[in-house]
Amino acid sequence: MHTHWGSKLGFVLATAGSAVGLGNIWRFPYLIAQNGGGAFLLVYLLCVGLLGYFLLTAKITFGRIAATNFIDGFQKVTNGAASRLWSRLGGFLTIFNVFFVSAVYVVVIGWTLSYVVASAQNLIGFSSVAIDKNLFETLTASYGTQLFWGILCIVVTSLILIRGVKGGIEKTSLYLMPFLFLLLIFMVAWMFMIPGSEKGLKFLFTPNWADLGITESGFDIHKLAHVALLALGQAIYSLSLGMGVCFIYGSYLKPNTDIKKSGLWVVILDTLVATLASMIVVPAVFAFGLESNQGPGLSFITLPFVFSQMAGGKIFMFVFFLLLFVAALTSLISIYEPVINLLIERKGLSRKMATMCVAGMNVILSAVVLASFTGHLSWTILGKNLFDCADYVTGSYTMGLMVLIYCVFMGWKIWPQIRDNLKIKNKIFENYFSFVIKILSPIILVLLFIMA
Ligand code: PHE
Repeated sequence: MHTHWGSKLGFVLATAGSAVGLGNIWRFPYLIAQNGGGAFLLVYLLCVGLLGYFLLTAKITFGRIAATNFIDGFQKVTNGAASRLWSRLGGFLTIFNVFFVSAVYVVVIGWTLSYVVASAQNLIGFSSVAIDKNLFETLTASYGTQLFWGILCIVVTSLILIRGVKGGIEKTSLYLMPFLFLLLIFMVAWMFMIPGSEKGLKFLFTPNWADLGITESGFDIHKLAHVALLALGQAIYSLSLGMGVCFIYGSYLKPNTDIKKSGLWVVILDTLVATLASMIVVPAVFAFGLESNQGPGLSFITLPFVFSQMAGGKIFMFVFFLLLFVAALTSLISIYEPVINLLIERKGLSRKMATMCVAGMNVILSAVVLASFTGHLSWTILGKNLFDCADYVTGSYTMGLMVLIYCVFMGWKIWPQIRDNLKIKNKIFENYFSFVIKILSPIILVLLFIMA
């Protein structure tokens, strides 16, 4: 029997929990900082509002209509008329993405957990660990330490998932998401009080058009396209599209939930967290006169330095990494769920067994990509170590490809069902919705591949 959520709120918070993750708090602030502040924010908001919302809502609806696992779904909604190629392709890509995204995700969430513990030690005065560049370099060079933290995160995730959709995923989200918002608001309020932070806020909310390639002397289309694709890729990642999560979370929905509204909530919460996280990270860095365009090291090197200079910095440091960890945990949970559900429904495994299989696979793949990352394994693909390669291939190609396949299927095979199930009444809304799914998204995604 395919299960159901206990409540609408549970569904919204679980889906928002999936969406809000490392992408919002770790990745988004550095993308903004590197790409023109307010200008990037604006392009991102356009991507989310004009495309992301519709893709998310459609995928949730497809899931609800199918009410089964992501492989049988294609046949079920067409009464067996859809070619097997759809489920083979969709199924293969989902499994590929789930395993390779989680392999990378676990490493980063492991770093986060180790920072939570180190900053907690400093806070209670139990010991004193200098949280700085050195710590990050030592951590990322050590295979054993990273694997240890990664496996610990996998164990926590599995313990939650074993308890089921309602008792595990939903209950955890009902507690953790409000907690996450409290932490965020606390940090933003504190940041406002720090002298010099207004420079960062100004940078965030005043678009620098030159960074988009728009200057008085002309218009650099390549630059603009580059930023737009970056923003769209981030929107797809942040809204958890491209891994079967929205589909499977939608499949647990009851018929009376208004997906248009719930989807809107998820998109708003996700975008709000990304914006608030940037309002913490970017001003913090500006207030201390540091460079904010540091890329991935921003959260793990620059920010700890900033916190260590601030009054009350020990508390701030702990709260920030706790926030990052909580956000990432609810995302990792969601990444496992599509495959767990598949193993239960297609292979007849118990939930416990299915969770252990996915977790075991995650341990193995993380161990391999990590070994390549630390240089213990000399394999490279496309000139990259396996960690960077997995991140690059899923982020630039396979997640987008999966969204493309779903778009074509939903737009050209089952659009009337999606429309009716969503109960769309407004004609303009309906026309725009079908235009986005059938034409606009596929074209943009194909362009994305060509340019990538
Ligand atoms: N949305 C998550 C984040 O922002 C990542 C994620 C992608 C989770 C795809 C599930 C599926 O970190």
